[in-house]
Amino acid sequence: MELGVCYYPEHWSKDTWRRDAERMVDLGLSWVRIGEFAWGRLEPHPNQLDFSWLDESMDILGEAGLKVILGTPTATPPKWLCDRDPAIYQVDKEGRIRGFGSRRHYSYNSPDYQRETERIVALLAAHYAHHPALGAWQTDNEYGCHGTIRSYGKHDRVAFQRWCEAKYGHIDKLNEAWWNRFWSMDYQGFSEIELPNLTVTEPNPSHSLDFYRFSSDAAINYNRLQCEIIRRYSDKPISHNVMLFFEDFDHFKLAKDLDIITWDSYPLGMLEQSPLPDPLKTQFMRSGHPDLVSFMHDLYYGLKSKPFWVMEQQPGQVNWAPSNPLPAKGMVRLWTHQAFAHGAEVVSYFRWRAATGAQELMHAGLNKHNGQPDRASLEVKQLKHELKIMPKLSKNPAQVALLFDYENMWATDLQPHAQGWRYWKLAFDYYHSLRKLAVDVDIRHPYDDLDPYALVFAPALHLIDETLAKHLKTYCEAGGHLIIGPRSGMKTLSNTVLDNGITSPTLSAWQNLTGIRVDLVDGLRPNVHEKLSWQAQNYHYHTWADIFELLDAKALAHYRCFSYEGVAIAEKTHARGEVISLGCWGDEGFHQAFFSHCLAAKNIEHQALDEALRQTTLDNRHYWLNFSAKTMPSPLGNIPPYDLRLDIETFYELED
Ligand code: GAL
Repeated sequence: MELGVCYYPEHWSKDTWRRDAERMVDLGLSWVRIGEFAWGRLEPHPNQLDFSWLDESMDILGEAGLKVILGTPTATPPKWLCDRDPAIYQVDKEGRIRGFGSRRHYSYNSPDYQRETERIVALLAAHYAHHPALGAWQTDNEYGCHGTIRSYGKHDRVAFQRWCEAKYGHIDKLNEAWWNRFWSMDYQGFSEIELPNLTVTEPNPSHSLDFYRFSSDAAINYNRLQCEIIRRYSDKPISHNVMLFFEDFDHFKLAKDLDIITWDSYPLGMLEQSPLPDPLKTQFMRSGHPDLVSFMHDLYYGLKSKPFWVMEQQPGQVNWAPSNPLPAKGMVRLWTHQAFAHGAEVVSYFRWRAATGAQELMHAGLNKHNGQPDRASLEVKQLKHELKIMPKLSKNPAQVALLFDYENMWATDLQPHAQGWRYWKLAFDYYHSLRKLAVDVDIRHPYDDLDPYALVFAPALHLIDETLAKHLKTYCEAGGHLIIGPRSGMKTLSNTVLDNGITSPTLSAWQNLTGIRVDLVDGLRPNVHEKLSWQAQNYHYHTWADIFELLDAKALAHYRCFSYEGVAIAEKTHARGEVISLGCWGDEGFHQAFFSHCLAAKNIEHQALDEALRQTTLDNRHYWLNFSAKTMPSPLGNIPPYDLRLDIETFYELED
């Protein structure tokens, strides 16, 4: 368990560099990430490189005993490059160029930018591969930040046409897959294919979903290009920093090319931008919502099923949320422990010193604008001592898994059908209810090996192919228990209706798995809560309801809505396990009751927790974390506000 910081030597006078490095070491930091936006200073004019300042800075950091994560600077193409090759610019959905003056203003599909990327990454990798301070690489910075995955320019269109040709081979196959017979949308050749923007009304969702896949692949291929070049010169691990809500590319696929997954955790900023209800935002405005942060920790652990890093951890206020409250005292320390409790190896803060100019000047650092320590520094100092006496702990496999999938997110969010629909929110509601029941949850991809889990929750498994249906059936036959949420089994991978009246191997495999057919669907208005009855009690649901017809399953619950009756929850048993189909998006009260029933049936220990108290197990040790301004009781004793209790004896040696 180590600490680090993001540092921009190019922002500060050289006189401060050595002192900065010494102070970093004194604070207990071991890692420093640098360089990711520095192209303009590394190559101020075409082919006139100036690596001297970065050499000096890396030397100083290395001499102080720090390890460097060196970022490739491709998130910020410099002005001369943009003026010389303006075709690199990204184009937004409205057809406007996203121009120079901030960052991420390039398209992954620009041949010019791919060439320039290869050149600068190769120069950097060759130059620093053997620098003694180099510990790891970071490719680019936050793919997808500022909505930068989908670009709608000339090069993007050509690349999309090629992608479609490689996928479908013949245009008739594409027309069939997209159901282009509708509204005369048939194409006669791949070079006719348009991008799904600037249409009169919404574009065809099959077209859009393929464009989303293509755009995700483009970002992943661009990242792979960088990784391959770096690996030619260096054997140091390669990372990239992903982030919550930058979800226009498939993080599971990106992870395959990386050695280390890192993510950028801004608990207060993320909460402000999340779809969580306003009262919760107010309640947690100084601590962040515990589950919002840990959901991402668990997802990013799940990308490779191995420890991740937090590359950027909020150290104070951010500058980019609608409101930017100060974190409560103690939260920087608590977030750091929370990350380690969910399997992080390194937590690194953004940034060392607050910028005195430009877009992020209202963003806090470990140090203030004037270079004096800000209050997070005190908390980091405390962590330095705490981490020294913490034993090395690793994550236990959980008994419960939650399945998460980007394609299902894209497909359902493309056609929400109910105003409040958001795949992410449904997945989060499931996670939140389980965490509120004090259960550890692993987040996995639907096609992953599920055998280790006693119970698997799958919100909105919308897009189905035969392989997936069979994979899930094998899990259930072998004794697995699967709970499938609303909007599942509705579509083929082409985003067309699966149950189209023609028996197909996929439809049979899906019906074999679930034993149901969806008879009707209801897309509710916001704030409408209808009733269902389960075990002789009424509960509420909102946003979505699938009304089931039973083929080979039994009913567990029924709707009690004035406009329809019918089955709300159905169960099909398999050789040693079962599938439960949950047709509606339940309120928290229903999820708590129903999930707790499912956990009890599998003898999985659980208990209801306060919204602000969380329990996590690491190496069979318990962490209790208090995200409130009140003292909270826990089995390990009372927890002061924004503090934690651990059953690790040595942890308390500090207090003696
Ligand atoms: C991150 C980004 C950083 C910085 C930070 C501010 O999303 O990677 O470069 O902008 O936000 O909170």
